[in-house]
Amino acid sequence: MQDEKYYLCNLDDIEEGRTRRAIFPDGNAQHTMILVREGESVHGFDNLCPHYNLPLDFNGDDFMHPERNLIRCKNHQALFRMSDGVCIEGPCVGKRLKLVAIEIVDRKVYFSEAL
Ligand code: FES
Repeated sequence: MQDEKYYLCNLDDIEEGRTRRAIFPDGNAQHTMILVREGESVHGFDNLCPHYNLPLDFNGDDFMHPERNLIRCKNHQALFRMSDGVCIEGPCVGKRLKLVAIEIVDRKVYFSEAL
């Protein structure tokens, strides 16, 4: 948990309806998060799948299902809603990605603290 804001990227670095991977400090470690843009908003989630606690990706920015507006875990194909990270299809239905607090100031995207 931290009190300061941590700059992640500019809002326009994330295409509408797309995702971007970001790294944030957590004590002496670093965690990756998934940023999802919806209009002028950005949702942030820990990049850890609730199925096996593994990263959803294999080091890429694209977490989206190619034909559906859903975040996809590439390990076992769980699908999560962009707005709240709830799994709606796959091996962990009903579980959710952990939300992280995102702030946007002057079109810059910041991580503030875990929710
Ligand atoms: S680890 Fe994500 S669906 Fe299995």
